[in-house]
Amino acid sequence: MFTAFIKSITRCYFVYMLALYSFQAQANTDRELMLRASDQKAVARGEKLYQSVCFGCHGLALEGGTGFNLRDAVWVHGGRPSQILESLERGFPDKGMMAFKNVYNSQSLKDIVAFILAKQVGLRHLKYDVYDGFEVDEKKRQFPDLKKLKLIKSVNHHNKELDFSIPIPGKTGIIYRGSIYVPKSENPIIVVTKLGPADIFKISAAGRQLKQEKFNKSTWHYAIRPGRQRFEVAYFNEGRTRVPRLYLKLGEELIPLNKAASSFEKQSTYNIIATSEAKVVRKKIDQLPIRSIAVGLPEKINYAFNAKSCSIVGIWGDDLLNIGPNIAERGKLASIPLGNRWFYDNKGIYLTIDGQQAPCKYTKYTRKGSPEFHFILDQVKLTLAAKRVTKTSITFAVTSSNLKNKKIKLNFPPSVEVSNPLGNVGENFLTIVPSGSRQFDFTVSPNSGGERNAN
Ligand code: HEC
Repeated sequence: MFTAFIKSITRCYFVYMLALYSFQAQANTDRELMLRASDQKAVARGEKLYQSVCFGCHGLALEGGTGFNLRDAVWVHGGRPSQILESLERGFPDKGMMAFKNVYNSQSLKDIVAFILAKQVGLRHLKYDVYDGFEVDEKKRQFPDLKKLKLIKSVNHHNKELDFSIPIPGKTGIIYRGSIYVPKSENPIIVVTKLGPADIFKISAAGRQLKQEKFNKSTWHYAIRPGRQRFEVAYFNEGRTRVPRLYLKLGEELIPLNKAASSFEKQSTYNIIATSEAKVVRKKIDQLPIRSIAVGLPEKINYAFNAKSCSIVGIWGDDLLNIGPNIAERGKLASIPLGNRWFYDNKGIYLTIDGQQAPCKYTKYTRKGSPEFHFILDQVKLTLAAKRVTKTSITFAVTSSNLKNKKIKLNFPPSVEVSNPLGNVGENFLTIVPSGSRQFDFTVSPNSGGERNAN
């Protein structure tokens, strides 16, 4: 009896210790990974790995694509650093993401997690207080003395977005407190638009009030430092129905921080247009196979390179893409190519070497000027880039480490014409015996009887 009691106590103690131990282990891993996220070298190593293997599914800026957004507050499989590491180790093989613990050592996996942590963006852990009794003073526009107001309620806000439209009658104010992640970026700022003349808006980060700079009539800018920090926003108005929109601006990207801003973004269309330099967009593209990467050239011709088949699966004129509401929608909706379509084709324009139908291996893309796609075909390393563009043609250059004595066949869909000064044209293919061992070009133009203007 007594021994049974002791045994059960011991067992309980064991289970308890085990639970405590794994809890401790998880907490230690969390701490270790958070520290690593502030180690620039580790983050840089992680970034390199991320940009070579993860970006195709999770997006260049972690904004999501086939795989989830990895930088916002929404985590399906857990957002603690140790849980992110676990997602990475185990993968989701049934959803197409392999288990990376078989690919990288644990240091490399931790570097990738450090990079993901360093890229977190937006608000977390929000609470708000609602105050009543606020009187507008048009002349002074002073921040009210909170002690003189009546605190109506204090609420844990289970949402990553601020909401200034929380229905509160009369002369009221709301103060949100939480934390904000601002990734390293050139000149990050908080943008507030649609502020009314009598609205009082105050933002503090890391315990200091941010300086307000007027951008135009109803838009204000507040410079903020990068890093994770405490965040506080106070908004007092006279019960207007118009609601300000709040964004974090990182480079050219606007990240909505409140509900009004994100619903506004959902209604908007966003056209990506290559103006002075080439633009590369990795998002799901309407009617094109997944893992297609869109390139917009300033000469107003765009093409999509598919990283799975290493082929050019579409070419279209004018502007690049309407990425529409994808910004807020976690990349689930397909972007729509703008302009005249020369062709869209799942097989597209693709190469075979010496008649081999060997699977290709896409390695990476680099950009110095025109973006270059690197891949391996039948053990030959190749790079493809757009080289010259006219209104009715686009010339691609293929460079290689060794093309000596190789027979190249270039297959293309009927809606385009493909030519090369040294090539022999067949029906929907071209055979090329490169004169040098390192490079050849081919020029694509829409077939007059093809799909042009069909879109
Ligand atoms: C072939 C596409 C693909 C690749 C490559 C890929 N992932 Fe994923 N990943 C996915 C998909 C799909 C999911 C969603 C799984 C699900 O539906 O539950 C996912 C989920 C995740 C999650 C969990 C997200 C959450 O909300 O909890 C993490 C973390 C993650 N991936 C990290 C990575 C990292 C880091 C890499 C590169 C080392 C990578 N993935 C490469 C497709 C991919």
